[in-house]
Amino acid sequence: MYQTKIAGLGKYVPENVVTNDDLSKLMDTNDEWITERTGIKERRHIKKGDGNTTASMGVKAAKIAIERAGISKDDIDLIVFATLSPDYYFPGCGVQVQEMLEIATCPALDVRNQCSGFIYAVSVADQFIKTGMYKNVLVIGSENHSGGLDFTTRGRSVSVIFGDGAGAAVLTRSDHNGQGILSTHLHSEGKHALELSLKGPSTNHWVPKIIAENPQGDDIPYYPYMNGQFVFKNAIQRFSEVINEGLQENGLSVSDIDMLIPHQANLRISQFVQQKFKLADDKVYNNIQKYGNTTAASIPIALTEAWEQGKVKEGDTVVLAAFGSGFTWGSAIIKW
Ligand code: ACO
Repeated sequence: MYQTKIAGLGKYVPENVVTNDDLSKLMDTNDEWITERTGIKERRHIKKGDGNTTASMGVKAAKIAIERAGISKDDIDLIVFATLSPDYYFPGCGVQVQEMLEIATCPALDVRNQCSGFIYAVSVADQFIKTGMYKNVLVIGSENHSGGLDFTTRGRSVSVIFGDGAGAAVLTRSDHNGQGILSTHLHSEGKHALELSLKGPSTNHWVPKIIAENPQGDDIPYYPYMNGQFVFKNAIQRFSEVINEGLQENGLSVSDIDMLIPHQANLRISQFVQQKFKLADDKVYNNIQKYGNTTAASIPIALTEAWEQGKVKEGDTVVLAAFGSGFTWGSAIIKW
């Protein structure tokens, strides 16, 4: 069995900054409410005409990751793309990336696991590399949330939280035994699927049916629904469990963690996890204040920033952890 390491990281966020005050001009909300409940001060939104889509932002992040990995795009053996906001209902964004990067016919697949999407995608890539089937796998998490949120007061409890952006990682075969991904841990609990969901358009809620049943109704399936407090309670429990699971699997303890990169769901969730594990401030990386919750993109954006700032370095034990819609959750333990 081979071992997998992260050889290159990249991120891209749209230039357009949207502050809490900007949102308060669109809906009944304010900076104090958003900051207190979520920690978010601003997020990035794609601007009409700026050319950004979920796939194209992923490509921008991927180009940086490929360059930093010191390989050519033609060395990529597989693309795994995580998103809940694809450009098309089908096909997925992975094939768009393959075309935009002009890689010959390498396989591409999309992962639909929302906030846990990047960890699921890393785990998929890790399995292919471990077995020797592929050497270099491009993993991308990218989201265009702003294109599908309700920016009226009706949607405020969801729409203030999410932002757009992309992160990417090149995973490759590690030359040094013991360096790289030590383990990944994945879970789901589909009985809570509708507690954080977007029901339509789908084969159950196709467009003509939505229009016929909800000409102006409030029960609209094409904006995300989130049972916020229920999500919060489940998130803090599952984050803790899956981090512990990863540590135990590798005979590690909390004191071995050099950097925890939690999915940037909500600053209060990250702070709860930090306090529970009694981790110092410099052992947990948060950037939700600047970008909001970018779902599948949040971990690779945060990991890229932490690495760029020298906060993730060779020899470090890095823990990635996520929880989100599905419900799904997961962790990855990495020796950098
Ligand atoms: N601005 C102002 N007021 C608002 C806003 C807003 N943006 N949104 C909701 N409110 C109002 C509500 O209407 C409600 O008013 P009422 O008391 O008059 O009825 C009041 O604020 C309280 O609403 P709650 O929904 O009870 O607020 P809560 O304290 O639960 O905070 C939040 C909402 C932030 C979503 C919280 O439940 C939470 O943090 N949940 C975790 C979910 C999460 O972080 N999800 C992230 C995405 S999922 C993921 O990545 C895992």
